[in-house]
Amino acid sequence: MKKLFLVANWKEHKSSLEVHQFMISFLGNEFLNHAVSNTEKKIIICPPAIFLSQIHTLIGEYNLQIKLDLGAQNISQFDQGAHTGEESARQLSEFVKYAIVGHSERRKEFFETDEILKNKVHTAIASHINPIFCVQGKDTYVPEEVTIVAFEPLDAIGSGTPDTPSHANEVAKFFKEEKNVHYVLYGGSVTSKNVLTYTSQEYIDGVLVGGASLDPLEFSRIIQNA
Ligand code: PGA
Repeated sequence: MKKLFLVANWKEHKSSLEVHQFMISFLGNEFLNHAVSNTEKKIIICPPAIFLSQIHTLIGEYNLQIKLDLGAQNISQFDQGAHTGEESARQLSEFVKYAIVGHSERRKEFFETDEILKNKVHTAIASHINPIFCVQGKDTYVPEEVTIVAFEPLDAIGSGTPDTPSHANEVAKFFKEEKNVHYVLYGGSVTSKNVLTYTSQEYIDGVLVGGASLDPLEFSRIIQNA
């Protein structure tokens, strides 16, 4: 059975109360346990960093049948020190096993360069955090240590017009065969209706979901349908 990564990227959304309501609804969802038990589905929620501790505590209170991990949406490129506003890999590693690195929104809005992203990957791995490295196409630079890549074509993000499953599969094949990447996820306008068209592709190992992951029922359906 193929291992599938189902990653929620909440971006800059939700209040503390909304996070609580999401988690209660999501974790209490009977068909979620049913959809995930006896499968190789790995669920990873990447909330804004300020909610990591809250969700970590909440998950600990549930006797979960499912594999649910947390991920960071970003990580400092530095180990520690005078870097106002940043969270280091060592700090994040108390709560997360994964970190999204190189999302196109961070590249564009926060001017993250290949050099910065390489440092981020390095510091993440040194603290045993697995980077989920976002690429926008075949020519995106991927640091050597990366094992999980998320292919997210720019015009598919938040647009309602996802890439075709066959093209996403072709790109996934390229990263596995040419770049030694172990797992390739697809991201960009994934919903419960189209998720299977991606996860059923030979070279695609999961999805990175933005907008559709904000609703507990829709995200549960994505997990179920994947
Ligand atoms: P979307 O975002 O699912 O809302 O298109 C995906 C992403 O940016 O990771």
